[in-house]
Amino acid sequence: MSTKTHFNSESPILEVKNLQTAFEIDGELHNAVDNVSFNVKPKQIIGVVGESGCGKSVMSLSVMKLLPKGIGSIRGGEVIFEGKNIENLSDKDMNKIRGKDVSMIFQEPMTSLNPVFTIGYQLQETLFNHMAITKKEARLKSISLLKSVGISRPEKIIDEYPHQLSGGMRQRVMIAIAIACQPKLLIADEPTTALDVTVQAQILDLLRDIQEINNMAIILITHDLGVVAEMCDEVIVMYAGKIVERTDVDTLFHNPKHPYTELLMGAIPKMDEDVEVLSSIEGIVPSLKNMPKIGCRFANRCPKAMPECKSISPLLAETEAGHEVSCLLYESSMPNEGANVR
Ligand SMILES: Nc1ncnc2c1ncn2[C@@H]1O[C@H](COP(=O)(O)OP(=O)(O)OP(=O)(O)O)[C@@H](O)[C@H]1O
Ligand SMILES: [Mg+2]
Repeated sequence: MSTKTHFNSESPILEVKNLQTAFEIDGELHNAVDNVSFNVKPKQIIGVVGESGCGKSVMSLSVMKLLPKGIGSIRGGEVIFEGKNIENLSDKDMNKIRGKDVSMIFQEPMTSLNPVFTIGYQLQETLFNHMAITKKEARLKSISLLKSVGISRPEKIIDEYPHQLSGGMRQRVMIAIAIACQPKLLIADEPTTALDVTVQAQILDLLRDIQEINNMAIILITHDLGVVAEMCDEVIVMYAGKIVERTDVDTLFHNPKHPYTELLMGAIPKMDEDVEVLSSIEGIVPSLKNMPKIGCRFANRCPKAMPECKSISPLLAETEAGHEVSCLLYESSMPNEGANVR
């Protein structure tokens, strides 16, 4: 039951505005997420893609206010969840929202379940944190949650420990914990990467079913464009801490504009090839310390780079309705470089 009178279902559930998240390395601040803006509407599934090190996890941890304390911090911009700027929320208030209104499935499922507690304990802990229910009710609800994520014999599994379960089962448990309080937004960071293809498909089907039943929005982070095609409404392509392209899923696949996106598309492996997805773009994502200070961060790997790409920083701009690209190829004229946001 919501008491938030200012929020209606047409508003975005999440607004990220010019988010800058920095890590301190050798006494200097480096932005791992740099000027990122996007909205998530209720029930929308937004895919976030980009190679390793592009800032996908740091972006999600920023939204959850779960950055490693003293190491990473939000340095600029705003994260607004259901109309509330999370910067202004105390740890206590954030704890009330986290797990209840917004949940996250972390990239490393093996490390996010606590090995010393039973599955039931960990599920019930989440329920007790957010609901006024008895022990007996919590146990029954946990069993029904485990059942809802396709775990057979939930009455037995509830008393087992994480190491007694397969990777797929652990991931289902993670999902059960994440959806226990029917969040309005789920951030799923590579929810299926560690799993084999069949289990992967089952978990994605499960997420979609839950999304429909619970009317929840999902930010789905993945290396796998096949997953994006199957699951997402909109896609954000990140490169070196920035959004380089954002559009609906059909446009992304049929009319990609940024050369990085085009290369990602070309990097989709064929079904029968057992190769790492996104492995075939030459070069690597720059580390935070080696980030180009001006110009397009992709310029030195870009097959379409022009001389000015190394000196003029492109801005993310709408090239047509609902399609944003950050590339000089699509900018007719640029003001002087000093005026640009890096
Ligand atoms: N705790 C940290 N301290 C310093 N730098 C960090 C830390 N965590 C992440 N980074 C840096 O921030 C950048 C973004 O990392 P992030 O983990 O968000 O990438 P990612 O897109 O999630 O990659 P992957 O696909 O491998 O999960 C990288 O350059 C990474 O090295
Ligand atoms: Mg990550």
